[in-house]
Amino acid sequence: MDRIFSGVQPTGDLHLGNYLGALKNWVRLQHDYDCLYCVVDLHAITVWQDPGELASNTREVTAGLIAAGLDPADNIIFNQSQVAEHAELAWIFNCIARLGWLNRMTQFKEKAGKNRENASVGLYAYPNLMAADILLYKATHVPVGEDQKQHLELARDIAQKFNGDYGVELFPLPEPLILGAAARIMSLRDGSAKMSKSDVSENSRINMTDDADAIARKLRRAKTDPEALPADIDGLEGRPEAANLLGIYSALADRPFEDVVADQAGRQFSEFKESLTELAVAVLAPIGAEMARLISDPGYLDGVLADGAERASNIARPIIDEVFDTMGILNLRARRSP
Ligand code: AMP
Ligand code: TRP
Repeated sequence: MDRIFSGVQPTGDLHLGNYLGALKNWVRLQHDYDCLYCVVDLHAITVWQDPGELASNTREVTAGLIAAGLDPADNIIFNQSQVAEHAELAWIFNCIARLGWLNRMTQFKEKAGKNRENASVGLYAYPNLMAADILLYKATHVPVGEDQKQHLELARDIAQKFNGDYGVELFPLPEPLILGAAARIMSLRDGSAKMSKSDVSENSRINMTDDADAIARKLRRAKTDPEALPADIDGLEGRPEAANLLGIYSALADRPFEDVVADQAGRQFSEFKESLTELAVAVLAPIGAEMARLISDPGYLDGVLADGAERASNIARPIIDEVFDTMGILNLRARRSP
């Protein structure tokens, strides 16, 4: 069976972009592939993480994955730091990837901002660790939002260069799975910026744990324009906020974008926002409640992650051994283990 790997950072509240752009698709794919879903704590620390919050954020994101519908018995759910092979393979990939490749990464430029000299080396090498995550399991498919496409291409370049340099077919070239209208959910305050955990404005995003009042308030305040909703998709030209809210509606309702645009044609934003609020609450409230229930049971969540790490290691270990053998690294593990 083809194998899926995907990851999410434990860096704050999961939001509607994570849910519609990633988690919802993961839930849909879970029975058709052999799946690993990883809470990428080593990626999170490429920028400062408060030691008092990292562990609880890791549990909270794990709760989000399960509450969204991933079955921890069917899928391998674990946190990255617990399978040391991720860091081992990332180092090897630091020696395969070229500086020129990383210099093109737009996410580094965005995250490092003007003060690039002061960004961590880890933030720069972040895509190499991401390639290691995927290739450590020889994963063939990677479901992510649009923002990760460039990193995926880099993972393919690394796999190809490794295979070429050593004359092997060790790594498959992983394919991105970027699914549907929700691949890029935008901020509620600015239709040209993506919805993100790091946006300073809480009103820019709907969190998976928001209650009905918070969802209603944020949507009421969501930026719009003065026109009524257009008759067709062409009428959304130059109206990014309208397109975003209609896209969110279509993804939440699981209905084609064109149909939603046709249904809502001519309505005022105030009316449409009421329907959208109702729909968002219906979808998110049960997930938020389940997340809260799971978060109150850290013992259970830790058990899921420990079991996942064990199962992930069992796949990763022989693949790292194969990499070491290919590279000529003297590997004495077999002699050392009891
Ligand atoms: P992150 O929160 O950056 O760890 O992202 C976890 C997953 O959510 C990745 O697959 C991202 O591509 C996806 N994602 C994050 N933000 C958005 C967004 N605004 N729209 C769609 N997908 C997103
Ligand atoms: N970089 C991804 C993000 O921020 C998270 C991630 C880390 C990931 N490793 C991965 C996604 C491997 C897919 C596959 O969204």
